[in-house]
Amino acid sequence: MRTTTNRSAKLDMTIPGKAEGMSGEQNPVFGQLKVFSGNANPSLAAEVCKHLGIPLGKANVFKFSNDNTFVQFLENIRQMDVFLIQPMSTPVNDNLMELWIMIDAARRASAGRITAVIPYYAYGRTDKKDQPRVPITGRLVADFISVAGADRVLAIDLHAGQIQGFFNIPMDELPAIPLFARRVKEMNLTDIVVTATDMGSAKRARELADLLHTPIAIIDKQRVDNDDNAKAVNLVGNVEGKEAVIIEDEIGTGGTVIEAAKTLREHGAKKIYCFATHAVLCADAPERLSNSGIDRIVVTNSLPVEGPKLIDNIEVLSVAPLIGDAIHRIHNSLSIGAMFQGAAMDEIYGASRGLGGPSN
Ligand code: R5P
Repeated sequence: MRTTTNRSAKLDMTIPGKAEGMSGEQNPVFGQLKVFSGNANPSLAAEVCKHLGIPLGKANVFKFSNDNTFVQFLENIRQMDVFLIQPMSTPVNDNLMELWIMIDAARRASAGRITAVIPYYAYGRTDKKDQPRVPITGRLVADFISVAGADRVLAIDLHAGQIQGFFNIPMDELPAIPLFARRVKEMNLTDIVVTATDMGSAKRARELADLLHTPIAIIDKQRVDNDDNAKAVNLVGNVEGKEAVIIEDEIGTGGTVIEAAKTLREHGAKKIYCFATHAVLCADAPERLSNSGIDRIVVTNSLPVEGPKLIDNIEVLSVAPLIGDAIHRIHNSLSIGAMFQGAAMDEIYGASRGLGGPSN
C-alpha cells in the first residue's frame, strides 16, 4: 500500500544531472531505490547502477527446461522504488516475457512503485493500422506492460512519439540527440548537412540540425510491401560537397541507411556519417554496413552491441548516464525536462541549449 506523506522536503534535493551520493536515499512516498536487470542488456544495467552509485539488485531470471520463464528477486523490495531495466533486444519475445514476469513478480512482492525502463521499445514500427487486417502491436505490448503492473515507463527514442499515448500510465521518453550533437561537435566536421532517411525522421533531423545550426536534407524513402526492403527515390536539399550526417531512430537490416548513403553519394556528398539510437542490426546488417562506404556509424548501447556487431566503422556511445540521471530524477520527483534545457544540458551532455525534450 502506498502512503501519502509530505514530499516537499525531498523536492529541494536537486542535484541537477548528478547521481553521486544516491545510495541509500529514500523517496518518502515510494521508498528506497532499487534497480534490477533482466537478461536483455545486463552490462547497460550495471553501468547505470555504477552511475547511480548503488549495487545492481540481485534476481534470478531464467528459463526452465520446459521453456517457461521464471523470475525471483533475491532481496526485499517491499514498499521500495523499483526500476526494471530491460530493452526489447533479440530474442525480442523472450525478453518481453521476462519484462512482464519481472513486473508481475515485483508487484506480488509489494514493491512501492515499479518503473519499466525500456531503452529500446520493439514493435514500435507496428503502431497503426495502415493495411487491412493487421494488428497494432505497439499498443498491445503497452497494454501488457500496464496489465502486468508497471506504474511508469522510461524509454529512449521511440519509433514515433505517439507511442507515448499507448500508455495510460506516466511515460518519459528520453532523446539521444544531445549525445549525438556532442559527438558531431567533437568530430569537428565542416559543412554539415543533417539528413533524414524519410519524412518520418524529418523532425528528428530538424532537432539535430537546430542544435548544430546546419541545414537539413530529406530522402523520400519508399518501402516495398512488408519485406524490409527500403528504396530511396528522391532527395530534397543540397548535399553537394558536404559532410552528410544521417539521423535514424534505429538500424534494422541496414537497408534504409545503406540506400540513403547511396543516394547521398550520387548527389555529391563528400563524407557520410550515420547516427542511430538503436543498433538492432539484424541478419547480415553488420556485414552490409561494414561494406557500405559509410565513414562512421555511431549508435548507442540501448541494445547490446557485441561480437560480430562491432564492425570497424561502428562507434558506441553509452546511454547509461542519461538513464541513470533520469532514474535519479524520477526517484526524487525532479523534472526530467530540465535535463534537456539550458546549463544542465551544456554541463551534462556538452550540447547547445534549447532541445525540446519531455515537458515534465
Ligand atoms: C523506419 O521508419 C525507421 O525509422 C528506420 O528507418 C528503420 O527502422 C530502419 O530499418 P532498416 O535498417 O531495416 O531499413
